[in-house]
Amino acid sequence: MTDRDAIPPLEALNPQIRARFPMIDHDSQNRSRIYLNTGAGSLTVDTAAEASRDAQGRLNPMPGVVVAGEAETAALHARVRGLIADFLHARSGREISFHQSSTAALFDLAFALRGVLAPSANLVVTDLDHMANVSPWETVFGEGRGLEVRRARLKSDGTLDIEHLLSLVDSRTGLLAVTAASNGNGALVPLKDLVAAVRGKTLSCLVAVDAVHQAPHGLLDVQTTGVDFLVFSGYKMFGPMMGVLWGREEVLERLRPYRVETNKEALPGKFEMGMLNNASVAALGAALEYLLWLAELTAGPREAFPDRAAKFGAAMASITGFEKTITRRVLEGLRALDLPRFRLFGIADPARAGERVPTFAFDIGDLTATEAKRRLWTKAAIQIADGNHYSAAVVRHLGRPEGICRASFAHYDNIATAGRFVEALAALEKN
Ligand SMILES: Cc1ncc(COP(=O)(O)O)c(C=O)c1O
Repeated sequence: MTDRDAIPPLEALNPQIRARFPMIDHDSQNRSRIYLNTGAGSLTVDTAAEASRDAQGRLNPMPGVVVAGEAETAALHARVRGLIADFLHARSGREISFHQSSTAALFDLAFALRGVLAPSANLVVTDLDHMANVSPWETVFGEGRGLEVRRARLKSDGTLDIEHLLSLVDSRTGLLAVTAASNGNGALVPLKDLVAAVRGKTLSCLVAVDAVHQAPHGLLDVQTTGVDFLVFSGYKMFGPMMGVLWGREEVLERLRPYRVETNKEALPGKFEMGMLNNASVAALGAALEYLLWLAELTAGPREAFPDRAAKFGAAMASITGFEKTITRRVLEGLRALDLPRFRLFGIADPARAGERVPTFAFDIGDLTATEAKRRLWTKAAIQIADGNHYSAAVVRHLGRPEGICRASFAHYDNIATAGRFVEALAALEKN
């Protein structure tokens, strides 16, 4: 038996994993389904939904130090900031702030950088990014303050053209806004090498990473990659509808977020407007603890982790490894079938499975994305996404603002669902 024939641990553990996601095989009307729409929002893990209900029903809204309920709320905020710091391998929970969404977090960040970027600075955004990491920079700094916002293009295989991006960076580049993985076509960005190359050209360039699409698929290490800011969303990683912003403490200290006079100028709360959504914070904590559970499930009782960050690292490494198997299964299946009307946008070579996440953008002949989605749903009970996914890759690079189809897998899927997806596409081609 070769390595590739071995059953990956998460495939063997798939029934236990699926049991943690109550909605995994049926929709809100109790109709059976295969959920291939994690890119638009993951399924919620059981404990995240419970934690949300508990916090909403029981906790004191306001944190404080005198009454037990207040202290519990304060402890919840600190505990979840700490969990996130370990998840991102950040130095401390002081570097974490909670936001309504990642889009809101990136706008908040752009506003707060107004005194930091010089009037002569330029910014670089990319055609691989979700518009959430393009529009704040183009509107706040481009339209609003007249700074030049440059746009890095894609290569023909849908990956970021790093050479082009680097040609746009010069000594005046104040900020690079870049995604960790495309929600449009699944392409990964080699962040560590990219950041090193950018800093080789200009040390002072800040790097803001959109990790919303990457967060459920692989490790995010803010120290190793050397980035300055990073956002991710709870509802893309098994938890609540909210955004999280991480920033390097020394840089955050220099920012001036818009805030009310009485809000303290201190970390971590200086970015947070109004009371926090305790139900969401509690649910995010539970979603992260689910990943720690997954690490234990995969490793077995005897494995000792040096610390919690390493435990998150182990969970994410097993997710990445398993999802690579799913990616290969899909790409090999599509290659073998060679469907004449099917077009995949993005990396198609199974040997390059490690350069992407299992998010597949496609169209079928002249079917609109909505019609293809409807047929996959009615004939095969497979739920995918249609539309432009707010993705610059789709809107700008493919020039398809009306949209394309996207099927997106997560670690709770399995090799059988990958096979069912490929078979359903083949059936769709025929009629
Ligand atoms: C890559 C990426 N970035 C940003 C966002 C926006 O996240 P939010 O809905 O939390 O604002 C999304 C949502 O689809 C996304 O996929």
